Amino acid sequence: MTYITNERLKALLSQLAEFCSNDLTYKYATASHAAAITDITMQHALVTGGAGFIGSHLCEQLLQQGYQLTILDDLSTGRFQNIAHLESDANVRVVIDSVIHEDMVKQLVADCDCVYHLASAVGVQLIMDQPVKTIENIFVGTEIVLRHCARLRKPVLVTSTSEVYGKGIAVPFHEDDDVVTGATSKHRWAYACAKSLDEFLCLAHWKQSRMPVSVVRLFNTVGPRQTGQYGMVIPRFVQAALEGAPLTVYGGGIQSRCFAHVADIVQGLVKMLETPSAHGQVVNLGNDEEVTIMELAQRVIAATESTSEIQHLSYEEVYGAGFEDMERRVPALGRARELVGYQATCTLDDILRDVIAEQRAAM
Ligand SMILES: NC(=O)c1ccc[n+]([C@@H]2O[C@H](COP(=O)([O-])OP(=O)(O)OC[C@H]3O[C@@H](n4cnc5c(N)ncnc54)[C@H](O)[C@@H]3O)[C@@H](O)[C@H]2O)c1
Repeated sequence: MTYITNERLKALLSQLAEFCSNDLTYKYATASHAAAITDITMQHALVTGGAGFIGSHLCEQLLQQGYQLTILDDLSTGRFQNIAHLESDANVRVVIDSVIHEDMVKQLVADCDCVYHLASAVGVQLIMDQPVKTIENIFVGTEIVLRHCARLRKPVLVTSTSEVYGKGIAVPFHEDDDVVTGATSKHRWAYACAKSLDEFLCLAHWKQSRMPVSVVRLFNTVGPRQTGQYGMVIPRFVQAALEGAPLTVYGGGIQSRCFAHVADIVQGLVKMLETPSAHGQVVNLGNDEEVTIMELAQRVIAATESTSEIQHLSYEEVYGAGFEDMERRVPALGRARELVGYQATCTLDDILRDVIAEQRAAM
């Protein structure tokens, strides 16, 4: 949403009327007419975590839709290469810094019309390895972003995660289901709890002052540029298959997941922020095509025509004693469909094709 004053709107309309009444073709439009028209449509979005996997695709989507962008990222898990091709665009500004630096966030929020807040510690491996940073990064960063968006009433979207459903067993997961997480002594749940607290804070701002905020619970999202470095399963399997190395399945492999293509997700994210009826809501986004991790490994081997074998490691061997995982994680997508007409269009085969093509090209 771009808000303009009545006076500004009148001035723009009169310029437009003048332009239309002149017997001029499009190519003779003056710079000021062009600027006036751009003023109405051009919005400036701040994307935190914009150099990350989903963030970089979101930036491309927003640019395609005519947005101006500020990308804020500390490159902790993101990579500058993800956005290097965007930096020369006159509509893009890149800031390498952390969302926990409040003065800078205050200024960037003031400069923009809306905020997509994706910056976060991500990946089970990272969460297990850096428990303090995970909690601080997620909660402190979100608190700062929300406080400044609330002050200036800037629409903001916050990415949460299907992890908040914890050990829930009601499949598919509906947004208003009860959540069941593990004991606080098990670090795995720190990510889910920090993201839940983010959600509470978003909804509190909505309740208290009707701040335009959308909360999106993302289910496993995959596609080009995702790194397997932090425990993401598809890039990890594809890399092993292309190298002819064993694909390591954690646990028995009967646990299942649903994978969505990042191209579907970023379109959903933009609609969630642009649609006022989605504000004040928590909404699942993903794909509901379910696959066990064992079947996934077999499909990756088939799609890459690899001779790799599948090996198993127990969760304890990978993450240490007491690690808990969820058996199934299927999103209920009815709310997303009703609010913004969301429909995942890409299949798991599409995802594998794109990830394999990217990794092959990089070999
Ligand atoms: N990929 C998924 O399957 C998935 C699933 C659920 C939720 N999410 C959420 O989606 C968002 C994006 O995740 P992603 O998969 O693209 O991961 P990613 O690691 O590629 O992106 C996160 C980005 O945030 C940046 N970042 C981290 N801390 C920061 C800080 N303090 N200041 C500035 N930048 C910081 C990282 O450098 C990175 O570029 C995250 O909020 C994540 O919790 C992703």
